[in-house]
Order: sequence, then structure tokens, then C-alpha cells
Amino acid sequence: MRAKYRLRDIMLWIVRELTGKGYATPEDGKLYDHVARKFYKRDWVAEQIADTFSEFLPSDTNNQNITILDKAAGTGIVSEALLKKGFKVRASDINRSQLELLKSKYPDIEIVKEDLNKEIKNVSDNSVSGITQVAATRYFTVEGQRLFIKEAYRVLKQDGILIWPVFRSEVLIGKMKAGLKLKTTSGGVAKLLREYGFEILETKTIRYGLARMMNCNLVVAQK
Ligand SMILES: C[S@@+](CC[C@H](N)C(=O)[O-])C[C@H]1O[C@@H](n2cnc3c(N)ncnc32)[C@H](O)[C@@H]1O
Repeated sequence: MRAKYRLRDIMLWIVRELTGKGYATPEDGKLYDHVARKFYKRDWVAEQIADTFSEFLPSDTNNQNITILDKAAGTGIVSEALLKKGFKVRASDINRSQLELLKSKYPDIEIVKEDLNKEIKNVSDNSVSGITQVAATRYFTVEGQRLFIKEAYRVLKQDGILIWPVFRSEVLIGKMKAGLKLKTTSGGVAKLLREYGFEILETKTIRYGLARMMNCNLVVAQK
């Protein structure tokens, strides 16, 4: 049965999120999943991302040959959308308890406890077709953001696709957390990606709510 949350729980979770304590327990995971799907239309955003991967990756009758890394995957809302398209997904997050919710729905999925700001473990060079991180820009350190891009370039096959969603809501908070050198706008992220050898294919704006704040630019880059 779907858990029912009161406004008080949601406010409490937002405070815990802002203070960096929001994702540690399975209960946090359930609450995040509820808030993200209900208020941030994250399933819809996830579908847009999965569609964009389909648009830019070479079509394959069996998408199971196409592996996509979903970094900071949380409860796997984006991973789910990718799985529904038939892609093979490796979902990672720093909090394993988040990923357990995904694993309970898709027992065969590969889940990995991994820090976004560190090397990507046990993934060979030129071996995956896509990589993304969704709503996690604010958890990067300045050095970690650069390492993530370098690592993404390493693990992607030639012509592989990286999608970096730039949420307007994260632009300021990212800089507040990591400092002004963190790239949080689509222009800044695109420039950094180019620096590491990526070509920018497009920047597509999607809006998941009426407020201007609920605006997200999908920066699509190719190796
Ligand atoms: C806002 S949630 C987004 C989850 C998912 N991508 C989505 O769109 O629903 C942010 C996620 O980043 C994870 N996270 C925070 N810091 C991280 C880090 N340093 N490395 C990996 N994951 C991290 C949290 O545990 C949380 O699951």
C-alpha cells in the first residue's frame, strides 16, 4: 500500500535534505520518492531523459546491449524509465538504502554504492553507451565535477551520450554548497564538457511545472 505522508513529514524531509541528511535511511528514500514523483514530476522528467537517450543513441533491436549509468540514482526513478525502454542500467548512489527500493522492484538491476565525486569503479574504458546524473549537481565538489566528466569520457564508447539536466532550482544551491567555481548553469556545464572533449549536440528546455523555477535544461553531449 502506498505510504501516506503529511505536510509536516514533507517539510521535515526538505529541511533534512537542505542540511545534507535527507537520504540516509530507507524511510528517507520512501519519502523522497513520494515527494519527487508528486511535486517534481520526476517520472515525467525521467521519461524525457530516457526518450532523449533513445533519440541520440544508435537504435538496436535489443536495447539490452546498450548500458546506461545512472549516477546518484536515488530510488531509481530515472533508472526505471531507462529500464522501461529496454536499456541495461547500472544504478549507483552514495546511500545504498535509496537503491534498495529500486532493487525491490527490479531484482536483476545492478546497484552500486558509489560517490559521485570519485572514480567510477569496475567500469572499463569505452564500454557504456550513456551516462547521466539527475538532480545531483548540488552534491558535486568543484574537483568532483571535473573528475565526473573525465570519468564519463573514459567509460563512454565513441559517440556515447552524456545527459546533464540543469535544474534551475539547483543553480544557486550548488554554488552555495560547493563554491562559485562549481558549474551549475547550462552554459557553464556545456563549456566544461567541451573542455574535456565532448561535443554539445543540443540543450533542450523542459518544464515540469507552471512556476519558472520548475525549468530544466537537458544538456546533451556526445563523446
Ligand atoms: C535529489 S536525489 C536525486 C535522485 C534521482 N537521481 C532522481 O532524480 O530521483 C539526490 C541523490 O543524490 C545522492 N547523493 C548525494 N550525494 C552523493 C554523492 N556524493 N555521491 C553519490 N550520490 C550522492 C543522494 O543519496 C540522493 O539519492
